Amino acid sequence: MSFVSVAIDGPAGAGKSTIARQIAGQLGYLYVDTGAIYRTVGLYALRKGVDPHSKGEVVSLLDGLQVRMKVEADGIQHMYLDGEDVTNQIREPEISRYASAVSALPPVRAFLLEMQRELAETQNVVMDGRDIGTVVLPHATVKIFLTASPEVRAMRRWKELQQRGICDRYEDVLRDVIQRDYDDSHREIAPLRQAEDAVLADTSDLNLEESVALLLNIVKERQG
Ligand code: DC
Repeated sequence: MSFVSVAIDGPAGAGKSTIARQIAGQLGYLYVDTGAIYRTVGLYALRKGVDPHSKGEVVSLLDGLQVRMKVEADGIQHMYLDGEDVTNQIREPEISRYASAVSALPPVRAFLLEMQRELAETQNVVMDGRDIGTVVLPHATVKIFLTASPEVRAMRRWKELQQRGICDRYEDVLRDVIQRDYDDSHREIAPLRQAEDAVLADTSDLNLEESVALLLNIVKERQG
C-alpha cells in the first residue's frame, strides 16, 4: 500500500509549520515538522558544549544521541532528547543558530534521513522542512515551495516571539532571517531550493486562512 505525502519546503518564517499543521489536520494526515528534529540535535550540541560548526565534534556526539518524535494527546508533535521532552526549549533563538549549523553537516543529515523517510512509509504525511521535496521524499505525491518576503517573515517571527515573551528587536530578527536564508541556501549539502516539480506558493500578501486555502487547493489539484 502506498501513502500520500505532501512535501512543503521553504525558508525560515514562511509560515510552513502553522500552515502545514492546519492542512494536515484538514486532510487527516500526520504532520511532521522536520526542523524540530534538527533543532533537537542543535540543543544537544549546545548542552554538550560543542562547536555546532565543527564536524568532528558534532559527529562524535551522534552515537550517544537519542532523538524521538511523538504526537501526544494535545495533537502537538513533541520532541524527546534522551527521553526528556524538549518541545519548548528547541524554540529559543539560540537553538535556531545551532540547528542551522548542525544541519549543514552531511553526517547529521544522513543520520536523520531514514528517520524522516520511515515516517512517510507508514502513513499519509504532510512533512515540512528545507529538502523534503528534493532529498527526503523525491517521489512525494505533492511538492510545494512555500515562501514570503524576508520582511514579512521577520515580522511574523517577531510577533510569534513576543507572544512567547521573548522580546528580541525586529531588526535583529530580520537580520537572523536574512542570515539563515543565506546559510540554508548556500550550504553544500541539501541547500534550500525549489524542487523542479514543486508548486511555488508566495504568502507575502495572504493571511493564514488564505494561505491554508491556497495550499489545500494545490494539494487537491495535484492529486487530481
Ligand atoms: O524550520 P526550522 O526553523 O525549525 O529549522 C531549523 C533549522 O534546521 C534551519 O536552519 C534549517 C534546518 N533544516 C534543514 O536543514 N532541513 C530540514 N528538513 C528542516 C530544517
